[in-house]
Amino acid sequence: MKKLLIVGNWKSHKSVEEAHTFMIAFLNSTFVNWLHSQEENKDKSKRVVICPPTILVAELARLLEHVDSKIPIDLGVQDISPFSIGPHTGEVAASEVRGLVKYVILGHSERRREFDETDDLISKKVEEANKNGLIPIVCVQSKETSVPDGTHIIAYEPVEAIGSGLPDDPVDADTVAAFFKEEKSISYVLYGGSVTPENVQRYTSCQNIDGVLVGGASLDPKIFAEIIQLA
Ligand code: PGA
Repeated sequence: MKKLLIVGNWKSHKSVEEAHTFMIAFLNSTFVNWLHSQEENKDKSKRVVICPPTILVAELARLLEHVDSKIPIDLGVQDISPFSIGPHTGEVAASEVRGLVKYVILGHSERRREFDETDDLISKKVEEANKNGLIPIVCVQSKETSVPDGTHIIAYEPVEAIGSGLPDDPVDADTVAAFFKEEKSISYVLYGGSVTPENVQRYTSCQNIDGVLVGGASLDPKIFAEIIQLA
């Protein structure tokens, strides 16, 4: 059975109120209907991960506490510190979020570009994540991107596909996914870059693609729920 992971990356969007409104609308949307139909679908299962800005994680975790535990939805963060807790102004350590989230996105191309994140720094963050029981989702931009030891899930996100409305060709994305599985022993590969309800199935039906990382289209509860249903 194919186990799809559908990850929403909110990037630097939403206030506490907006996040609250999103979650209520999302949980009351077709999402719940989708969940019921999923129970009957034996060849495919889906898990959802929402990665808000770290400041919103506690509020969303509080809302999810009251939700039926059968609903396959988890939280993640978009980054963690390469250090453990201590005198590191502005940083959030993995151990500070571990009770609230299950996943962490690392090495996103926006962080590599805007914050000069290097492979070495990303490796340290992967190590911190693993030490603290968080599951790293490492973003790779091409076949050449190095994958730190201890990585099991990657998201292939060609830079030109991000936020551009120009998603990668699914055949190309599947070839890159196969490369990482065969050559780098990665067990799980997501595709990211301009994923929408209209194109999601073209990726999730690929043999080597195990889910999607969704940016802009994950900000609207209705559109995100549609992506999940159509994946
Ligand atoms: P996008 O972003 O879906 O808005 O293209 C994807 C990402 O950057 O993870």
